[in-house]
Amino acid sequence: MAGKITFTMIKPSAFRSNYTGGILKMINDAGFVIKAMKLTRLSKEQAGAFYEVHKGKPFYESLVEFMSSGPIVAAMLEKENAVDDFRTLIGATNPANAAEGTIRKLYAVSLQENAVHGSDSDENANIECDFFFSKIEII
Ligand code: CMP
Repeated sequence: MAGKITFTMIKPSAFRSNYTGGILKMINDAGFVIKAMKLTRLSKEQAGAFYEVHKGKPFYESLVEFMSSGPIVAAMLEKENAVDDFRTLIGATNPANAAEGTIRKLYAVSLQENAVHGSDSDENANIECDFFFSKIEII
């Protein structure tokens, strides 16, 4: 059975462009409930640890540099079928392939600066929520 939790991050480029409000509105309008949220800035070490699964890939160092370049908004979201429905809402990883009306189609500028992160499985959603939030920060 699909889980009810997913994790998202509004990336530094989208935050810098003041897209946070528009992105959160799309998330709420799509029926996701915000269970936890924080505005923070990742160190290089933290960004590297979050994206550890991509270590060794050609884009890893650049991704870590970018993700630690400015503030991000991290959020835990709840909805039935959360992981898949959120991936539909944000669109393809590469915005060039993102469907009309998706968050990435509207707000992404490149594959790296693709506006938002979204968990790719229930297991990773739990790992990613645990990375950012303690029990007391979740409603
Ligand atoms: P995200 O959903 O945050 O998960 C990993 C990120 O790595 C992805 O979004 C992209 O920003 C980035 N990414 C994935 N593949 C590539 C690639 N081929 N080149 C550059 N960045 C990539």
